[in-house]
Amino acid sequence: MKTLVFATNNKHKLEEVQALIGNRFRLQTLEEIGCTDDIPETGTTFHENASQKSHFLLEHFHVDCFSDDSGLEVDALNGEPGVYSARYSGSRDPQTNLGLVLEKMRGMSNRSARFRCVISLLQDGEEHFFEGVVEGQITEEASGTAGFGYDPIFIPAGYQQTFSEMPAEEKNRISHRGQAVSKLVEFLIKDDQA
Ligand code: IMP
Repeated sequence: MKTLVFATNNKHKLEEVQALIGNRFRLQTLEEIGCTDDIPETGTTFHENASQKSHFLLEHFHVDCFSDDSGLEVDALNGEPGVYSARYSGSRDPQTNLGLVLEKMRGMSNRSARFRCVISLLQDGEEHFFEGVVEGQITEEASGTAGFGYDPIFIPAGYQQTFSEMPAEEKNRISHRGQAVSKLVEFLIKDDQA
């Protein structure tokens, strides 16, 4: 089984992605390769941030790896929180961050939003990007306990439940990360068979 380093310290994300990749590849965490650095994420786009993280790992640990950058884009907030999703309020606390989105959107009727995910894969020194987007609506109140981040305030298009109220498999199937990872997996398998 091939090993790939996934540049994340987020346990939820690692579980989600490993579930999508199945047993074709074993994902290694940053901890497993001994990376305790705070990997810089100073870009202003998801592409820039994902790429920056992958290049950091290649440079310092000489491994094939992939990194993702993702976040929530709210139309009525001009695309915020966007690349600043993880610390929108200045804190990393998800409740505080989603609370800020709800507060800023109080009374707004345009509640359209999307989660976007960009993956940068660095394999044999070459970079490949994969992107996934899921459209939806921001709720008036948080609802549900599963998932992470902004899941309790996001209802994907065509559904009545927030991501937090859905079984994890259902979220993984339709999510931005699910879509980007499916494209990554498709690429890796094709590449493996070539
Ligand atoms: P990243 O770890 O730099 O990609 O930051 C992503 C941030 O965007 C997370 O900390 C969450 O706040 C938010 N986010 C990304 N994907 C999701 C998701 O699937 N559900 C909820 N929030 C998400």
